[in-house]
Amino acid sequence: MKPWLWIPPKWAHNLSDIFLKSYGQFIHGEIPKWRSFRWRGIEFANRLGIAGGVDKNGDYIDSLWSLGSGFLEIGTVTPRPQDPNPGKVMDRDNKELAIWNKMGFPGKGADYVQKILENSSKTENKKTPIFINIGKNRSTRNEDAYQDYLYCMTKLSPLADAFVINISSPNTKDLRKIQEQDALHQFLKQLVGKQRKPLLLKLSPDVTEVELSNILNTSADLGIDGWVLNNTTVSRPPGLPFPSEGGMSGRPLAEISKRQLKLAISILGPKRRDKLIISVGGVLTPENVKERLDLGADLVEVYAALIFDGPFFFKKTASYFNT
Ligand SMILES: Cc1cc2nc3c(=O)[nH]c(=O)nc-3n(C[C@H](O)[C@H](O)[C@H](O)COP(=O)(O)O)c2cc1C
Repeated sequence: MKPWLWIPPKWAHNLSDIFLKSYGQFIHGEIPKWRSFRWRGIEFANRLGIAGGVDKNGDYIDSLWSLGSGFLEIGTVTPRPQDPNPGKVMDRDNKELAIWNKMGFPGKGADYVQKILENSSKTENKKTPIFINIGKNRSTRNEDAYQDYLYCMTKLSPLADAFVINISSPNTKDLRKIQEQDALHQFLKQLVGKQRKPLLLKLSPDVTEVELSNILNTSADLGIDGWVLNNTTVSRPPGLPFPSEGGMSGRPLAEISKRQLKLAISILGPKRRDKLIISVGGVLTPENVKERLDLGADLVEVYAALIFDGPFFFKKTASYFNT
């Protein structure tokens, strides 16, 4: 029984605040260990983490740890606080296990997240690695975007294990244009090597093979440390009643996401060596987690599974791998 699936998405979104805050009250224990992993000195008790967007401001870190996730990606964090896009920003289809959103990086801003993470319970009793996903404010022009990312990186670097550079949300106008070859080169040149934490790039699933190859090669050559594959898609399977704007995730993204993972590994070839690849998109069962690892992902993340399967997904996955 999943009673939260009967609640309209708009209310569920507000209620998730209460849900997430209270999970931590009734689920306890250590982070389950399975396929433990070490990368660049960062220890992962297990390979399954929380995707960007679940905890945009770091408000639920303790609760998310108590679920048993092996790492957290919080954010997207922007330099200044901002509201969501106007109108309806989220919907879901319980039959197709699909989610639609056009949130547009609503958040409390980098200064707030810095304060949350500086709280001693997050630093002294840190249970998992914390990745911080960063973006630009919607009022910042693309030409100046690197300044927003640099601001977040500089402010949050002592508190993050790694950064995820988000230039792939479909919900901030023209953001994805930064993935185009020249723009990407100019943009990344300003960021790589500016602080000591690893930098990953989160990619759109809506790129051609040639575009993917350009993005991977350009970013690998400039010294990016890994990739998160992938963000939500603007494509729609026939029959899903979602608006054409915004991004879709959940089950209909799974095949697209697997295809991009396989392609990325084959395009990168030896350049993959010590880089990190995180697969996200349509992972809804423990078997799906295994499949992504078998395909070559180092780590896996979920968003939709938390909605359609619920808070015990991490423990369920741990049992699957440990039996
Ligand atoms: C409501 C919602 C909000 C999201 N917000 C963000 C975000 O702020 N930053 C980000 O990088 N990805 C965001 N995502 C994308 C997820 O991190 C993930 O890439 C995508 O949902 C695919 O995973 P899934 O099929 O497990 O949901 C969001 C997704 C959803 C459904």
